[in-house]
Amino acid sequence: YCILFLQRRGAISYDSSDQTALYIRMLGDVRVRSQVGFEPERRSSHPYLCIDFRTLHSKRVHRLLSFQRYLHSSRLLRGIPQQMPLHILDEDYTGQARCMLDKVGNWNFDIFLFDRLTNGNSLITLTFHLLNQYGLVELFQLDMVKLWRFLVMVQEDYHSDNPYHNAVHAADVTQAMYCYMREPKLAKSLTSYDILLGLLAAATHDLDHPGVNQPFLIKTDHYLASLYRNTSVLENHHWKSAVGLLRETGLFSHMPPEDRSDMERDLGSLILATDISQQNEYLSRFRLHLDQQNLSLTSASHRHFILQMALKCADICNPCRPWELSKQWSEKVTEEFFQQGDIEKKHHLEVSPLCDRETNSVGNIQIGFMTYVAEPLFAEWARFSDTRLSQTMLGHMGLNKASWGGLQQELSSASEEADPTTAATKDGDTAGTTEGTSSKEIPQGSNVS
Ligand SMILES: *[C@@H]1O[C@H](CO)[C@@H](O)[C@H](O)[C@H]1NC(C)=O
Ligand SMILES: *[C@@H]1O[C@H](CO)[C@@H](O)[C@H](O)[C@H]1NC(C)=O
Ligand SMILES: [Zn+2]
Repeated sequence: YCILFLQRRGAISYDSSDQTALYIRMLGDVRVRSQVGFEPERRSSHPYLCIDFRTLHSKRVHRLLSFQRYLHSSRLLRGIPQQMPLHILDEDYTGQARCMLDKVGNWNFDIFLFDRLTNGNSLITLTFHLLNQYGLVELFQLDMVKLWRFLVMVQEDYHSDNPYHNAVHAADVTQAMYCYMREPKLAKSLTSYDILLGLLAAATHDLDHPGVNQPFLIKTDHYLASLYRNTSVLENHHWKSAVGLLRETGLFSHMPPEDRSDMERDLGSLILATDISQQNEYLSRFRLHLDQQNLSLTSASHRHFILQMALKCADICNPCRPWELSKQWSEKVTEEFFQQGDIEKKHHLEVSPLCDRETNSVGNIQIGFMTYVAEPLFAEWARFSDTRLSQTMLGHMGLNKASWGGLQQELSSASEEADPTTAATKDGDTAGTTEGTSSKEIPQGSNVS
C-alpha cells in the first residue's frame, strides 16, 4: 500500500484511480479488513488488565511500553481522594476558565488556552460543565462523585505524551460535538439520551490511544490487533476502555441492566464510526439520505446516524478551525505520524505512508487530508445543516488550505534555489521520482546509524 502513495516534495501527486480511497487507505489500512463482527472483550470491566506488554514480541517498542508505566501511575493516582471541580483549578485561573466556559459554544473556542487555564484538566472540566449545563446529571440521577471519578479516569487514560491523540484532542472533539448538537436541526430533535451519549462518546472516542495507527499494531503483532482481528482495532479498544471505566466507576449502576447495555452498545456504535477507513460507507449513506430527503429525526435510528456523522465531523474538524488553532493541530498530528515513522525506522520496519519526516511536510499532509477526507465530509454536512456554522467551517477550511499551499510553494521555491537538481527532477517527474517515496527504496538513516 505504501507504493500507492505517490508524493513528491513541494507538491502532491496521487495515483489517478481512486484518490479518496487511496488517502483513506493511508490513514487506516483497509487492506486487512475482515468481515468479523464485534465480540465483547471478555474481561472488559478491566480492559487494561488484558494488555500484556510481553506480547510485543522481539520488536519491542519503547513508546508502547510506556503505556504500562502510564497505567501504573494512573492506578496510583486513582487512590488519592476525589477532588471536586473547582479545587483543581488554580485560584488565579479559575475566573478566566469559567469565563471561557460562558462561550463554550463558540467555534473559535481556544481549547489550548482553556487547557492551560485548567492546569491540564480541560477534558474533565469541559465535559463536567456540559453535562451539568444540559441538566443531564439530575435527569439521569448521576452521582456527582462517581461522575467526577469517571471523568478523571477518562482524562488519565489518554496518553499525555502523545503529540496529538491526547486528552486535549478529546476535549476539542467534545467541544465541537457540543457545537454540532446545538445546531437548530439537532437541537430541536435530539433527546437527553442522545446528548448524553454524544458527549460521552466524544470524550472517550480515542481513550488509551497508543499514538500509533492500526497498521503499526498489526505489523508488530500487537495483542490488540489479534483481539480485534485487524478490524477497527483502535476504535474497538477505545470503546471497550470506555465501557471498562463506566463499569469500574458504576456511573450507571443505578440504571436497569438493559438500559446500561443499550448505552454501552450505542456508545460503541458512535465510537466505531470514527474509524476513518469506514468513511466512504458513512458518506454514501449520508448522501443517499440527503438526495432522497428521507432523513427523519423523529426516528431514533436516524438520530443515531446523525450523531455518528456529527462525531465523525467533530473528530476531523481541525481543518475547519481558525488558522491559529488549525495550524497547531496540524503540527501535532504530523509530529505523531513522524514519531511513528521514527520508531519504524529504528526497528527496521517498513515506514508507513505519511510517517516519514524526510519525504513529507505538514502542508502536503494537510492539503491531501482536506482534499480527500475532510472536504467531502463537510460538504455533505453543510447540505444537511446549512447554517452559519457550516459556512464558517467551510470558509476556514478553504483559507487554511490556501495557507498551506502558499507555505508549500515558498518551501519548494526556496529549495529549488538552494538545490538546482531538485528543481530539475521536479519538472520532469512523471515516471521516475514518484516511486522514490516508497520508503523501502529511499536510502534510510538506519543504514548509517
Ligand atoms: C492480521 O493481519 C496480519 C498481517 O497481515 C495477519 O498475519 C493476521 O493473520 C491477521 N489476523 C487476522 C485475525 O485476520
Ligand atoms: C431512504 O434512505 C435509505 C438509506 O438508508 C435508503 O436505503 C432508502 O431507499 C431511502 N429512500 C426511501 C424512500 O426510503
Ligand atoms: Zn480522535
